[in-house]
Amino acid sequence: MLWFSSSIKDRKFLLGNKKWNTLFEDAVLKMLFFQIFLCLSSLVFCKEFAQMHAKEIALVTGASSGIGKALVEQLIAQDYEVIGIARSADNLEKVKAAINNDSFSVYACDVANLENVRQISNELKNSNKIPKYFFLNAGTAGIDAVESTDVLDLSFHQKMFAVNYYGVLNFVEEWLTAAIENGGATFAVTNSINATFAPPGGSAYSASKAAIAKAFDGLRLTYKQNNLKFLSVFCGPVDTPGLAGKLPYTWPSKKMAQYMIKRVINGKAHSNPSWFYSILCKLLNVLPEKQVFSILKVLVGNQS
Ligand SMILES: NC(=O)c1ccc[n+]([C@@H]2O[C@H](COP(=O)([O-])OP(=O)(O)OC[C@H]3O[C@@H](n4cnc5c(N)ncnc54)[C@H](OP(=O)(O)O)[C@@H]3O)[C@@H](O)[C@H]2O)c1
Repeated sequence: MLWFSSSIKDRKFLLGNKKWNTLFEDAVLKMLFFQIFLCLSSLVFCKEFAQMHAKEIALVTGASSGIGKALVEQLIAQDYEVIGIARSADNLEKVKAAINNDSFSVYACDVANLENVRQISNELKNSNKIPKYFFLNAGTAGIDAVESTDVLDLSFHQKMFAVNYYGVLNFVEEWLTAAIENGGATFAVTNSINATFAPPGGSAYSASKAAIAKAFDGLRLTYKQNNLKFLSVFCGPVDTPGLAGKLPYTWPSKKMAQYMIKRVINGKAHSNPSWFYSILCKLLNVLPEKQVFSILKVLVGNQS
């Protein structure tokens, strides 16, 4: 407004020889201001457009193998930006090369190491990469989770909890505030039917999975008002390098990843993909031990 009124005043004052010069200067100035206005408004528009159409970010731990790798493949196919985490940088790079998509970035990190998790999380926060979905999938499982039945080794329990329990909560702690400030997020843990039934040699694994399931139940209620969701998917056997032997009704990892993504996006608190193992575990918890051992013998006998 000030500029327009002063230009009118100038025009009246400078009538005569300078009239055309003044009109020309006026026009140039107006064009200049108009161009600046256009530039600024297109900048604002581009920023808002980019924000509206930015891909949602999903973080996947244990991304270099098995269920985690399948989750990455399915999330990329569904147009998410994916952050993949595992300990081995080499294995992550192999998965990255196979996926060959700019929306997939990888970070080597031991989920059991809080400092490590903090460092990666800060790096992501500093580059404004705030995930909407956390697939907290990394875990010690399969043959690595089978404990000695001769002696009770407490350090085995500690190692199991370090990954399967604290390795999940380390991410929750690091991202809680940022997720609330970002309007909410979903934390999903790849749990196991062994959270409901502990077989011989599986006391540490089962306890760690049951503990994280209960922790998530409590967190879900605690942070409901903050639009944070805490979900557990209780998988039966899935065909991954982590699975020890062959069991009936084993799911392919792709099918499990597709199932998990659907349930996580729908926000289901508890998911039980395998009706067979859900029912079997309920039975194993109530049947007399003699029958329990007979059933386990049949299942284990099935393994090659
Ligand atoms: N397969 C099944 O039948 C089954 C059934 C029920 C539940 N689950 C659960 O599903 C999850 C994935 O199992 P999976 O069968 O896909 O296993 P997997 O094929 O052995 O893959 C495990 C993944 O986790 C990563 N990982 C392990 N420890 C880690 C740590 N401390 N920090 C960071 N990354 C770590 C591994 O990479 P690095 O070794 O490079 O770190 C790998 O990418 C586990 O939580 C497991 O308990 C599996």
